[in-house]
Amino acid sequence: MRKHIVAGNWKMNNDLAMTESLITELKKQAQTSNAEVMIAPTFTNLWHAFEALRNSKIEVVAQNMHFAESGAYTGEVSADMLKSVGVQTVILGHSERRAYFNETDDMLAKKVDAALNNKIRVIFCFGEELADRKAGNHEAIVESQIKNGLFHLKANAFERIVLAYEPVWAIGTGETASPEQAQEMHAFIRKTLTNKYGKEVADSVSILYGGSVKPNNAKEIFSKPDVDGGLIGGAALKAEDFYAIVNAF
Ligand code: 13P
Repeated sequence: MRKHIVAGNWKMNNDLAMTESLITELKKQAQTSNAEVMIAPTFTNLWHAFEALRNSKIEVVAQNMHFAESGAYTGEVSADMLKSVGVQTVILGHSERRAYFNETDDMLAKKVDAALNNKIRVIFCFGEELADRKAGNHEAIVESQIKNGLFHLKANAFERIVLAYEPVWAIGTGETASPEQAQEMHAFIRKTLTNKYGKEVADSVSILYGGSVKPNNAKEIFSKPDVDGGLIGGAALKAEDFYAIVNAF
């Protein structure tokens, strides 16, 4: 049985005081679903969040990391540094990283390797832009992002990989992929995995959907058979909204 996962990507929001108060609110929420819950605060607040959530079921994950072990990479953060503050999962390949920070498939493949070598679980993001979808290229784009980022891995590496399909046109726009569009793409992703690694591996990998998931649309999106959870941006910044999504399973 695949895991259900709901992860809140806080992006570049919430200073230390705001992180503290949002975590206080999150701890008051009741969880009625069996989903794994994660939040991804910014680097500077990871340790604090980890400490504050030590005895809770909420996992603290990072939004990014560098592929090198250490060295002259001003401004970057390594896998080891993340582990040293309790982080066991990292988001890699978010479309904002790809678009604004020129993260390429090659770079992401190296980051994936660095994370896995350090036993850090990866939430690997990908998704097409609006022009790709309009041109009917969305499946080809997604397939190439997955192949270039992950298909150098051995099958057993997928025990530590979670996929997140985030169509760029649905991120922060209020526009969501319809539940049917999400299901269609997620089924395509699973087929792509099946072709390379076989059905058993493909069926074991959780595939999250991200892009304007809100309390009022989460249930329908999560009802689709190949949608195993969500990567939540804006709605993760309000504890009630986030837990309404967590509990939509
Ligand atoms: P929104 O939920 O704000 O559209 O963001 C989605 C996202 O990018 C999560 O990583």
